[in-house]
Amino acid sequence: MPSLNEIRSTFLDFFARNGHTVVPSSPLVPRNDPTLMFANSGMVQFKDCFTGNEQRDYVRATSSQKCVRAGGKHNDLDNVGYTARHHTFFEMMGNFSFGDYFKEQAIANAWELLTTDFDIPKDKLLVTVYHTDDEAAGLWKKIAGLGDDRIIRIPTNDNFWSMGPTGPCGPCSEIFFDHGDKIWGGPPGSKDEDGDRFIEIWNLVFMQNEQFADGSMRALDMQSIDTGMGLERIGALLQGKHDNYDTDLMRSLIEASANATSTDPDGSGKMHHRVIADHLRSSSFLMADGVMPSSEGRGYVLRRIMRRAMRHAHQLGARDPLMYRLVPALVRQMGEAYPELSRAQPLIEETLRQEETKFRQTLDRGLKLLDEELAGLPDGAVLPGATAFKLYDTYGFPLDLTQDALREKGRTVDTDGFATAMAEQKALAGGSWAGSGETKDAAIWFELADKHEATEFLGYDTEAAEGQVLAIVAEGAEIEAAIPGQTVQIILNQTPFYGESGGQVGDAGFISTTTGRARITDTRRSRGLFLHSAEVSEGEIRTGQGAELVVDHSRRAAIEANHSATHLLNEALRRTLGDHVAQRGSLNAPDRLRFDFSHSKGLTADEMATVEAEVNAMIRQNGEVVTRVMAPDDARELGAQALFGEKYGDEVRVVSMGQRIGSGKGTDGKTYSLELCGGTHVARLGEIGLFVLLGDSASSSGVRRIEALTGEGALTYLKEQAQRVTDVAALLKASPADIVDRTRALVEERRALTNELAQVKREAAMVGAAGEAREIAGVKFMSRIVSGVSGKELPGLIDEMKSQIGSGAVLLISDTGGKAALAAGVTADLTDRLSAVTLVKAAAEALGGKGGGGRPDMAQAGAGSAANAEEAVKAVEAALGE
Ligand code: ALA
Repeated sequence: MPSLNEIRSTFLDFFARNGHTVVPSSPLVPRNDPTLMFANSGMVQFKDCFTGNEQRDYVRATSSQKCVRAGGKHNDLDNVGYTARHHTFFEMMGNFSFGDYFKEQAIANAWELLTTDFDIPKDKLLVTVYHTDDEAAGLWKKIAGLGDDRIIRIPTNDNFWSMGPTGPCGPCSEIFFDHGDKIWGGPPGSKDEDGDRFIEIWNLVFMQNEQFADGSMRALDMQSIDTGMGLERIGALLQGKHDNYDTDLMRSLIEASANATSTDPDGSGKMHHRVIADHLRSSSFLMADGVMPSSEGRGYVLRRIMRRAMRHAHQLGARDPLMYRLVPALVRQMGEAYPELSRAQPLIEETLRQEETKFRQTLDRGLKLLDEELAGLPDGAVLPGATAFKLYDTYGFPLDLTQDALREKGRTVDTDGFATAMAEQKALAGGSWAGSGETKDAAIWFELADKHEATEFLGYDTEAAEGQVLAIVAEGAEIEAAIPGQTVQIILNQTPFYGESGGQVGDAGFISTTTGRARITDTRRSRGLFLHSAEVSEGEIRTGQGAELVVDHSRRAAIEANHSATHLLNEALRRTLGDHVAQRGSLNAPDRLRFDFSHSKGLTADEMATVEAEVNAMIRQNGEVVTRVMAPDDARELGAQALFGEKYGDEVRVVSMGQRIGSGKGTDGKTYSLELCGGTHVARLGEIGLFVLLGDSASSSGVRRIEALTGEGALTYLKEQAQRVTDVAALLKASPADIVDRTRALVEERRALTNELAQVKREAAMVGAAGEAREIAGVKFMSRIVSGVSGKELPGLIDEMKSQIGSGAVLLISDTGGKAALAAGVTADLTDRLSAVTLVKAAAEALGGKGGGGRPDMAQAGAGSAANAEEAVKAVEAALGE
């Protein structure tokens, strides 16, 4: 019986044998589509190849693509656990032709693989075609010899596939497997098609249209093929199972969940294990591709998936965080096919553990609240939206988690009510999702990228060079010449200017031609073109001219010092804090560097000092920075650190720096830092000069941000600090060496003086305002009106007054500069019939204040003014008389 891993290989090998390039899965976060949340099918990474916007050096490809369907057009989240074939994460195997072969070969290949390599009996297979697609129907007859009864024409969108609201699309033909009449269900298109007898196993899409956001559609210039076969489905079939969750891979995760909770994998918790197995895969793969749990966008979808799984773990009776303990089982199963999973294992485990620990603090209470609410509702009633919102807002229950919990009890939520409550609070909740990536005005760059070769970057070796002006763009349109006063984008065939990328900001400098000169303020990239933002200062710059380009050297040198220091910092953090440290973002500007990385808590002073010292030690080592260009796989083998999910071309640059000190974790045995990086760097580490850590703060959940300075900037910062020490020493009339002791002594002295002053103030106040004790309704009462005594000093004075009268009630009103602070006290022997709270409230009311509170023996209040203090005393006297 072939394992899922073997089936994946059989598929890819078959198409490789048939002239297809095996392309690795793209990351789950699409790089080329701002409208799509996650890769949801194999064709996503090839989207631009179908529309003709992108050319690759192959026209046939095959892949096994990681897919997440939990948000957007294709969303299976709600069905997971309840059905045999839904997943939030799955692998889609596919073959693709970009204007090469079309229907005939696609059908022939599919038929051969299924009936030969996979050895599926021919009479078990049947197909659907789009109702008007006579060609496909004819081909199935010719190639597979299928009779008309097994070629079913479907007139609905089921047989017209599209990726999402926009993008390439076309009619499709689906291949079904017939499990035989022992299982209930009808063929596709029949009224019993939802039964389980006929299962779709492969979808062949004949790409020939492109859909736009306004609903219109155009015919594509070339006809292409996109197919998709879910590995879990075909796996179940080839393993003789009827349920995807019974395949070897899913089963091993279910058993890991059962073992960790000491429960029966097939007992009453069966559904929980299935949800956990599925959600473990989607959560882990999302994190391996750089998504971190958060309160919006992709991060919020991830959090929802995680929390759902955590509720199911809770239902299984798991007392401690469970999910992170299952990660090793997943890595054992899938780490080989997807090395990014193994690389991210420490980060995934740590994040899952933290998220589950945090969520458990409210999960119990939220579930209890839910049970109580349900108990109070009539049988079968819908849960009010306001309750679901409270669970969301206070207990962190995503709406779908509440729905999932209710589904087990056959109940639903009033989702409109939830939306209303949510709108009222204008909460985040993913509604703010606006996509990310390229903007719409990219059209001109598409056009220019078609017309021109990618800009050649010369700036690794030189900061001055000549280039030819290929295009000038002003306000989204091409112009012939740029004149003073205009801000334009200039594209040249080659340039020494670095275009912003990987956190390193773009270069600035000058460009000049025989007719004019311009200042370059920034350089960015789009589709391989370097866009120089230019302000013309003299004459004009014309398309077609030769130009001299000079990078601002001191600015570039400062940027490089920061960039190289960032690599050292990354490694120093990993060695100090652990392997879960992964870069989440960075900024290398001329004046500072910023580095975001995965780590759950703030750095201690010791950790900061260790990291800073280690980076400075590497700088003093003054090693050469060596850059080598190699194939991505060779670089990974070398152990290069890469951003998870980064898209790399055929060649990558590997930047190594420094010699390891102490026990290091670099894998080539001697290099300190080894990273894949397209940026520019110092030639020797000594050029960084100096490294100063400014501090660390939380950037988002599980991500810390460090800011630091290098070179001149670091020196200036330290000099300023030193000047402050000198200034402070002068003020203290002490030597710099003594300022800490002197300051400590001053702080002590100030504290003592403050206490003394407060005491003096209290005494002075009491002297001036000694009130007479009088008797009202048999209770001794003493009141005082003072000024300048703050509210927090009143309790001490009230105690003094109480001891003066022995038994009775006391009132103190202080005019604190416009406002009034009040306190009342009742001696212990009277608190069973008199309350200081009542008395102070009466006084506060007379002063126009509201409220007041405390204990029966001592209570306090405030009011806007003490002008009517006498009235307030009378009010308390009246209260005592009642
Ligand atoms: N892109 C097609 C699908 O996802 C093959 O079904």
